[in-house]
Amino acid sequence: MQRILEPELMEDFEQVKAYAEADFAEPHNDFIGRLQTVFANPAFDGAVLDLGCGPGDVTKRFASAFPLCRIDAVDGSKPMLDYAINAINAQIKQRINFIHGRLPDVSLLNRYGVIYSNSLLHHLPDPAVLWQTIKKHAQSGAVVVVMDLLRPESQEAAKNMVNTYATNEPDILQRDFYNSLLAAFTINEIKEQLDAAGMPLMASQISDRHVFISGTL
Ligand SMILES: C[S@@+](CC[C@H](N)C(=O)[O-])C[C@H]1O[C@@H](n2cnc3c(N)ncnc32)[C@H](O)[C@@H]1O
Repeated sequence: MQRILEPELMEDFEQVKAYAEADFAEPHNDFIGRLQTVFANPAFDGAVLDLGCGPGDVTKRFASAFPLCRIDAVDGSKPMLDYAINAINAQIKQRINFIHGRLPDVSLLNRYGVIYSNSLLHHLPDPAVLWQTIKKHAQSGAVVVVMDLLRPESQEAAKNMVNTYATNEPDILQRDFYNSLLAAFTINEIKEQLDAAGMPLMASQISDRHVFISGTL
């Protein structure tokens, strides 16, 4: 099945509300747990970059797991960032700098010791934008962790996944999940992207619909 793009930024108010208010505790804790298998240093006090942070749920969980770090969390959607800023408690928020900006044009002054991104890649019309942004802002030795959806073989397979994993979710979340599956890459496409970008990261399929990409630059 050919990739079918979905709107890049999530800016529609109802869409943002549904996404921000959904319970992603399980997948987001899973993301942090997997990240900790690659980067197990809770005393890390350096700079972290979260790309496509959305309403900040993963950002908050990362900040709790690494209580000394500082995070720049970027999203191109202002409504998403408004949710993030309002949803995170004041103590954790002191260590998070939410930045309204769109890759690849976002202006970041820093280089980062850890760069992660959850569920951004499939939104990008040009996936090289993510890999080039990571390369540009990684310190030497930076840990990189990216997780995303994988594109199923057919629209019917995508529908089956929505029925299997999101049947109790609001219609708008089911629609977005379906559109995201169609917009996602295959694991071979992702490996080609990494080769083209010259990035020594490992991409592994970790479920019927997820890929986990990690390594050190
Ligand atoms: C599916 S959400 C994931 C949010 C969050 N990382 C999470 O796991 O809950 C994808 C986010 O990427 C943002 N996004 C898409 N393209 C972007 C770009 N070029 N630059 C910055 N943010 C982008 C969207 O606005 C959206 O908030």
